[in-house]
Formats: sequence, C-alpha cells, structure tokens
Amino acid sequence: MQVESRLHREVLGQLEQTPAAAMYLRYRREVPELVQQVASEHEIAMRRTGLRVRNRQNTADDWEFDQLEAFAFSIDAGLDPALLEFAEVTIDDSGQRIFRWIRPIMMTEPCLVCHGETIPIEVLDLLVEEYPNDEATGYFAYELGGAYSVTRVLD
Ligand code: HEC
Repeated sequence: MQVESRLHREVLGQLEQTPAAAMYLRYRREVPELVQQVASEHEIAMRRTGLRVRNRQNTADDWEFDQLEAFAFSIDAGLDPALLEFAEVTIDDSGQRIFRWIRPIMMTEPCLVCHGETIPIEVLDLLVEEYPNDEATGYFAYELGGAYSVTRVLD
C-alpha cells in the first residue's frame, strides 16, 4: 500500500540516523499529512484508527471497531495479516451509500520507540504533554496496531 511504503521510506527509514525526539516531531507532523495526501490523490477519505488510540480524533467508530476486533481474532488464530481486509457498502443516517474499506496495520520493531513498552524518556515527555490520554503504548512487534480506514461517498 502506498501510504505504508512511503511511511517506511520517508519517515521510519530515517529512524536509525535521527534522535528519537526529533523523529517523534517529524512523525507527528508528516504522517497525518502523508495519509491525507494519498487520500486526496485517490479522491477518498482515509485515516488511521485502532482499538486503543493515541490521538482521540482517531478513535474507531462502531464499524471500524468491529472490523478491528475481527482482525485481532483472525491474527490470533494464525491468519496472515497481510491478507486481511474488509470492504462493505454501508448506508449512513441520511440514507447516503458509503463505500468502506479497512486493512490492518501491524506493529513492527521501529514502531516500538513510540508505541512499545519502554519508550525513551525524551519521547515520553512529549507524549505525556501532547497526548495525556494516550492509550497506544505497550505494544509488541507483530501485534495488531490499528488499521487504515477508507470511506468514499457513492453517488
Ligand atoms: C516517532 C514516534 C512514532 C513512531 C516511530 C510510530 N508512531 Fe504511530 N503515532 C505516533 C503519534 C505521535 C501518533 C498520533 C498522531 C496521529 O494522529 O497520527 C501516532 C498514531 C498512530 C496510529 C493512529 C491511531 C492512534 O493511536 O492515534 C497508528 C495506527 C499508529 N500510530 C501506528 C504506528 C505503527 C504501525 C508504527 C510503525 C510502523 C508507528 N505508529 C510508529 C508516534 C509514532
């Protein structure tokens, strides 16, 4: 997926050469922007969400929460997360048909600097200040970290 490859190449790929706090500031600025950029190129709405979130604005809605739980269940049962996705046409409150698509995001080693069990103190200081209700820590590598969630209004 385009966001994922660009996220790794343009942001997380720099992790080894960049101090953790500087990395954090880049990620916070560039990653949400990158997601929006790819979404507008494809004329869709896209965001990242999770079962436990750092940024409250990323809190899963009911549809996303159900799919995230299903992904977690499938991954626990040994299914390959790379093969998991779910798409559906839903109807919103005003009767509008909405195409929805969701795909898991897995935690890998570089993610743990900011989402793991032991977060460097300089990053932790920033997290506590900016996300006092942060729930997106304590993860391990190869655990479900969240999902990309896409919506498109159908005519
Ligand atoms: C340098 C610190 C840093 C690293 C490394 C990092 N994250 Fe994040 N992550 C954040 C911050 C800050 C936010 C909240 C900003 C936002 O809304 O995107 C966030 C938000 C998220 C979200 C959106 C849901 C939420 O909790 O708000 C997901 C999903 C996520 N990260 C997954 C990952 C994954 C997977 C990796 C590794 C591929 C990763 N992160 C690496 C700092 C980081």
